[in-house]
Amino acid sequence: MKDLQTPIRPLGEHWGAVVLAAGKGTRMYSQRPKVLMELLGEPVLGYVLDSLDPLFGENITVVIGHEADLVRGACAGRSCRFAHQEQQLGTGHALQVAWESLAASGIRKLLVINGDTPLVTAQDVAAFVEYGEEADLAFLTVSLRDPGAFGRVVRSNGKVNAIIEAKDFDPETHGPTTGEINAGLYLMDMTRVGPLLDKLTDDNASGEYYITDLVAHGLDAGLRVEGVLAAVAGTAEDYDVLRMLGINSPVELVRAEARLAESRAQEALNTGVLVRWPESVRIGPHAVVEPGAEITGPCEIYGRSIIRSGARVESHCVIVDSTVDAGTSVHSFSHLQSASVGPGCSVGPYARLRPGAVLEEHSKVGNFVEVKKATLGPGAKASHLTYLGDAAIGAKVNIGAGTITCNYDGKNKHLTTIEEGSFIGSNTALVAPVTVGAHALVAAGSVITRDVPENALAVARCRQTVLPGRGTMPDDETS
Ligand code: UD1
Ligand code: CA
Repeated sequence: MKDLQTPIRPLGEHWGAVVLAAGKGTRMYSQRPKVLMELLGEPVLGYVLDSLDPLFGENITVVIGHEADLVRGACAGRSCRFAHQEQQLGTGHALQVAWESLAASGIRKLLVINGDTPLVTAQDVAAFVEYGEEADLAFLTVSLRDPGAFGRVVRSNGKVNAIIEAKDFDPETHGPTTGEINAGLYLMDMTRVGPLLDKLTDDNASGEYYITDLVAHGLDAGLRVEGVLAAVAGTAEDYDVLRMLGINSPVELVRAEARLAESRAQEALNTGVLVRWPESVRIGPHAVVEPGAEITGPCEIYGRSIIRSGARVESHCVIVDSTVDAGTSVHSFSHLQSASVGPGCSVGPYARLRPGAVLEEHSKVGNFVEVKKATLGPGAKASHLTYLGDAAIGAKVNIGAGTITCNYDGKNKHLTTIEEGSFIGSNTALVAPVTVGAHALVAAGSVITRDVPENALAVARCRQTVLPGRGTMPDDETS
């Protein structure tokens, strides 16, 4: 399959796709279903759906079963449909479960893909469709030096005979191993393949209904069956092979993630992002880093983050679903989640911006400052050791070191408002709900429980008492 330039375009109403995603993923040793394991902050299944979207649009059915609600939840916001496989009796059974509603919806041509193949691209799928379209049943293969646990393609005189699962493979019956394996993508003419579904049995080493048995049944029934070889290992195209392989174990997941990370960082570098130490920079598939931004690894930028041209992200930062505008520096060891940082700001080192943190232009959040659901107006500063939660902080406010918004009374969260130009002295506790008016001054060490009018000075602490002569303390006598 050499023509990787096949255009990616919608295939038309009679085309549908099925994603097999009901399995547990036993070899992951995780409670989490395998299709929800993450690569660069996105679930495996998300990658598969992203590759199918441009070709199949709304005609995508996901077969769910193990932790069905979680998997369904991970598809929120997408237009896919679901088929429920109560018991995971095998890939062939998963297809049977989805079949009826597919046939009823007028789909005649079907692409089936294992849900554990995140590196397969829309381009790969488009090329496979082009190659396999004429066949009644086609499947994608790659050739490995060691076929491992994959289903093995058995051919005679170049013609496909069967796919034999590794556990069932016997060289005496099936001939010598060739290294050609089934990648887990199939194309089916529904009218031709439909009658074969009832022929599947679980009479095999795993006791499962194998989708792969459709190949031998198809040949028996005189169907045109084709194995489309996508790539051969041991050449410069190794990544083309790796891309096609499913993820079954932590080793495979990490290997795939590393390749993906490498290509994302390289892509950023090539488009004009200054990526220092690119090997250690991880940019998620939906994160945007604009040309002219600067990133120093190691760091991670995930989700729907946007790092604008002229922004700097220093090492050891984790940025998820956040925006960082031009001229802003995010200094080392900062953690941003669902935060919005305007232009010309300074964040960190060691800052934590939690969901709803909004920094307007030229504001500053310094070391060991945590911000949650709080807005800092233009030029506002919280330079050291502070917690700002559920707060509206006006322009040019200065928050002294050790200031805490006491936003939680044990039951509810309350708002702290600090109006523009105010100065909050160090070690102040602001017991919400409370408002400090514009240009007010709060003395260091205050516990503010009542509103402070604008331009006022609030001192809410005990006056210092100084007594002459330290005297002798009882403890001193014994020591
Ligand atoms: C499968 C193929 C194998 C191929 C390999 C490629 C079969 C029998 N074997 O093996 O030939 O080389 O993929 O990666 O298909 N699933 C369900 N319901 C089930 C069982 C599985 O939805 O009852 C889903 C899983 O969630 C997974 C996909 O099907 O996403 C593949 O299942 P998996 O168990 O990983 O198959 P392999 O053993 O890798
Ligand atoms: Ca697999």
